Amino acid sequence: MALPEWDGELTSVRYDRGTGAWFVIGVHSTRLGPASGGTRAMVYPSPGDAVADARRLAGAMTLKMAVAGLPMGGGKSVIALPAPRAELGEATWRRILEIHAANLELLGGNYTTGPDVGTCSADMDVLAGLTPHVFGRSVAAGGPGSSGPMTALGVFAAIRAGVAEAGFDGVDGLRVLVQGLGAVGADVARLAADAGAKLIVTDVDPARCAAVADELGAEVVGTGAVTTRECDVLVPCATGGLITAEVAETLPIAVVAGAANNLLADPYAAEVLRRRGIVHAPDFVANAGGAIHLVGREVLGWSADAVADRTRAIGDTLTGVFADARTHGTTTVTAAQDLAARTLTGEH
Ligand code: NAI
Ligand code: PHE
Repeated sequence: MALPEWDGELTSVRYDRGTGAWFVIGVHSTRLGPASGGTRAMVYPSPGDAVADARRLAGAMTLKMAVAGLPMGGGKSVIALPAPRAELGEATWRRILEIHAANLELLGGNYTTGPDVGTCSADMDVLAGLTPHVFGRSVAAGGPGSSGPMTALGVFAAIRAGVAEAGFDGVDGLRVLVQGLGAVGADVARLAADAGAKLIVTDVDPARCAAVADELGAEVVGTGAVTTRECDVLVPCATGGLITAEVAETLPIAVVAGAANNLLADPYAAEVLRRRGIVHAPDFVANAGGAIHLVGREVLGWSADAVADRTRAIGDTLTGVFADARTHGTTTVTAAQDLAARTLTGEH
């Protein structure tokens, strides 16, 4: 596999013939502290795509930690599965976690993992039995539990900040479209519904749509409608890459603020959103609640209340990012990257 250049520190790649899985760990930066970022387990078109995803996601973690003021660097694990997880037997999944734990051990604490798409607290419990370099164990196993609820709280703070920047008077009555109703999206939907939003939801899993529609009275739309359905706020909470420059040209929305890491498929999409006056909360700012929860509880010894306060403050950070972007005529991504760079270079 030909690997392109990367500005990160290390990429580890391992193939296991027994399980048919590829294991990738990207350590992007240890400038602010040991690297951290979750473990994503899913099927990829090729091992090269898995490496590219791990590297992109690791880079986003560096920015996320810096903007959130956490003393950690950025990293990410990707496990490219031979088949969807639901089709793997228990023994194969257990073996995959064992190999992942052995890889984490080799990095000797320079990288600590946690949950992400395709893994959960129960998996972190298994990993934690094999290596100490794990955040996000279940509460029953003595950990802080899922990062999903805090990520959702932070995304909702981002939605509020975005809505204010767009000139709306709160979320009440706005049409809010949530894509992906997993650990984060379902909770964001609840928070938006509580605030009086007219909720529209979509997920590839019809059972999740039905459950949220039942609970919150949301309108369900097909997954293809996510970029064409007119609404006030788009909340992407599935996997990344949703918004290309072309999609950005026609998105019928006022605000985009969600959890999906690496939402923009190409960097120019941010410029298109800026030109069209769409308020865009950069993903690595909006979705930092999970990192604040895990690092706050497990490294910094913060209480649950302190974590929630720091997570709500994501809204203030974004208000500053929007103002900087307006003042300097840049995209919000550039403004947020500049904020991260000031921390990474020790300018403040
Ligand atoms: P999850 O795996 O629990 O939920 C993802 C949901 O998206 C699932 O219900 C899935 O069926 C759905 N989905 C997948 N592809 C879809 C598509 N094309 N259209 C509609 N729905 C689709 O994942 P989780 O934890 O909720 O994370 C969501 C996103 O937020 C991911 O990009 C993740 O990296 C990011 N994130 C998650 C954090 C966390 O604390 N869990 C923290 C920061 C970011
Ligand atoms: N995977 C989540 C994220 O992208 C949560 C996480 C944060 C996991 C930090 C490990 C470390 O933010």
